[in-house]
Amino acid sequence: MFRVVYSSVEVEAFDSGLLKRLLINSRLRNTEMGITGMLIYDLGVFLQMLEGDQAAVQATFRRIERDPRHRNVSVLWQDADAQHRICGEWSMGFSDASGASQMLKGFLAVEGGLRAAVLDRSNAIKILESYSSAA
Ligand SMILES: Cc1cc2nc3c(=O)[nH]c(=O)nc-3n(C[C@H](O)[C@H](O)[C@H](O)COP(=O)(O)O)c2cc1C
Repeated sequence: MFRVVYSSVEVEAFDSGLLKRLLINSRLRNTEMGITGMLIYDLGVFLQMLEGDQAAVQATFRRIERDPRHRNVSVLWQDADAQHRICGEWSMGFSDASGASQMLKGFLAVEGGLRAAVLDRSNAIKILESYSSAA
């Protein structure tokens, strides 16, 4: 199994409506492709993990990388020989306090603040693991 973790920075401001649309569309596409993962958003910073079949994850990641709505897409961790899925189902952290987090299953509140964190490989893994066990 293949896993990739990356961070990026929004270009347009993602309000709760845009985030919801992104989440719904991504879930649909990822489910079709057998991909699970997690997307955390906080104050303009994304941290995402995608896991599944290598060809499916790489094709999805190539689409994501080209997406003009974010920039500075940096791969923090890549594992071509992942033994098991960290995320049993797709979920998404959401720092916006507008109440959207209650509306969609899988939304999680970001407490520490993603923007403040140093997003290197080991921190990214810690953050993602804390969300996957909270989900
Ligand atoms: C931060 C971020 C995360 C995204 N995550 C996914 C994802 O997990 N799965 C997915 O299919 N698209 C995801 N997208 C959307 C893709 O970039 C792309 O817009 C979408 O897959 C449609 O691609 P297409 O227009 O080439 O068909 C994400 C976009 C952004 C900005």
